[in-house]
Amino acid sequence: MRTLIKDGTVITASDTFAADVWIENSKIVALTDPSQRAALGTADTVVDAKGQYVIPGGIDCHTHMELPFGGTTASDDFDTGTVAAAFGGTTTIVDFAIQSKGSSMRAGLDAWHAKAEGKAAIDYGFHMIMTEANPSTLEEMAGLVREGVTSFKMFMAYPGVFLVDDQQIFRAMLKAGELGALITMHAEIGLPIDVLVQRALSEGHTAPVYHALTRPEVAEATGTERAIALAEMAKVPVYMVHLSAQRALERVMEARDRGLPAYAETCPQYLFCSEDDLRGEPGNEWKGAGYVCTPPLRPAHHHDHLWRGLRNYDLQVVATDHCPFCMKDQKELGKGDFSKIPNGMPGVETRLHLLWDGVRDGRISMNRFVEITSTAPAKIFGMYGKKGCIAVGADADVVVWDPAREKVLGKDTLHMRVDYSPFEGRKVIGTPSAVLSRGELIIQDDRWVAKKQQGRGQFLRRGTFGL
Ligand code: URP
Ligand code: ZN
Ligand code: ZN
Repeated sequence: MRTLIKDGTVITASDTFAADVWIENSKIVALTDPSQRAALGTADTVVDAKGQYVIPGGIDCHTHMELPFGGTTASDDFDTGTVAAAFGGTTTIVDFAIQSKGSSMRAGLDAWHAKAEGKAAIDYGFHMIMTEANPSTLEEMAGLVREGVTSFKMFMAYPGVFLVDDQQIFRAMLKAGELGALITMHAEIGLPIDVLVQRALSEGHTAPVYHALTRPEVAEATGTERAIALAEMAKVPVYMVHLSAQRALERVMEARDRGLPAYAETCPQYLFCSEDDLRGEPGNEWKGAGYVCTPPLRPAHHHDHLWRGLRNYDLQVVATDHCPFCMKDQKELGKGDFSKIPNGMPGVETRLHLLWDGVRDGRISMNRFVEITSTAPAKIFGMYGKKGCIAVGADADVVVWDPAREKVLGKDTLHMRVDYSPFEGRKVIGTPSAVLSRGELIIQDDRWVAKKQQGRGQFLRRGTFGL
């Protein structure tokens, strides 16, 4: 099966050039000068990319399909969530499997395989959330790494649920160093946050905005500094997930300036939404519940700092932390008590659309756009070469990006299984016109065109940390 993407402009993390992209079955086999096409024979499928960009499929290295949280479960599963991802130009996700406290990581990983297998429409990998780093779980890490689960998330937040103490984090980092695995960190210090939450509730503050007011920026900055200090002591790299704020970013910058391998991702909600969204509307404070995620949305002046971080390579990745809950029945669990609003926002489908706005207004280049949405996560999380590039031998995960096509974002124009959109009515310019996953054309002109949908995605055994 031969596919040709013709007449497009290929954008990689480093280069921009006119080329035809030839695909044999699931792999890219040649990038050729379009003027030589006649000599190269024919293709079974031809995708016309004239006037458009040809970019590597997006990699969203932070999703939570079917995550149990706060008495409910994230509303997208591996079927609906990965289909939505593909419509937005993302062809790989890395989701978080969870070790339940008192149980093994093996059991957690098996549970996540069962959720994804036969359902995912695009390729997927797993990180493992470690809720305990005791001798037996530390022992388990090697087996997981051998199976391609090469990164672990630990939490300084959520006491009693996910929180692990510094000694456990440090032990896991040492072990990760031996194995070439990567520790990723949720770096808000949760113990004082819980006190602020209890105090706010006892004072009668119940509205969604108190989610932000009880999780101040300093809690994230301190956690970030502490995580980096632990990694420095353990002599290992560390990756901060969902970094939201200026002071946390400054901690990462200081570490990087000292030559430490500290990496960080931010998310579209921290670039495009703010604490004002959490306040809801006059007479409808509750609307803010749709914007409750953790770390919380910050005042809008943080946006410029994060964009600068992306431009200057202090932030390496934009992932989504896709963790949708419907307003009805799910976010509603926190009506009258902001601390019971399930944490998370939908986003897996809109990441590229939103970030392209950053290209259009000159905040980042097209090459940087490709780097932060695909190439850098592929490199950091052990997928590069197979994913994250337009290169001979790579998986043909390719998006044809039409920079002129408009789309209005909203719950009815998007595919995520959630009853609202944080970006309802926002017009974006630039959207995928075709999406290929391992050489198969799966989406064309906003229609799913592949024969199979559920279960066509494959589990990705990722490599160890290679940077
Ligand atoms: O609000 C969020 N981020 N929900 C998902 C859990 C996490 O901490 O990533
Ligand atoms: Zn987190
Ligand atoms: Zn998350």
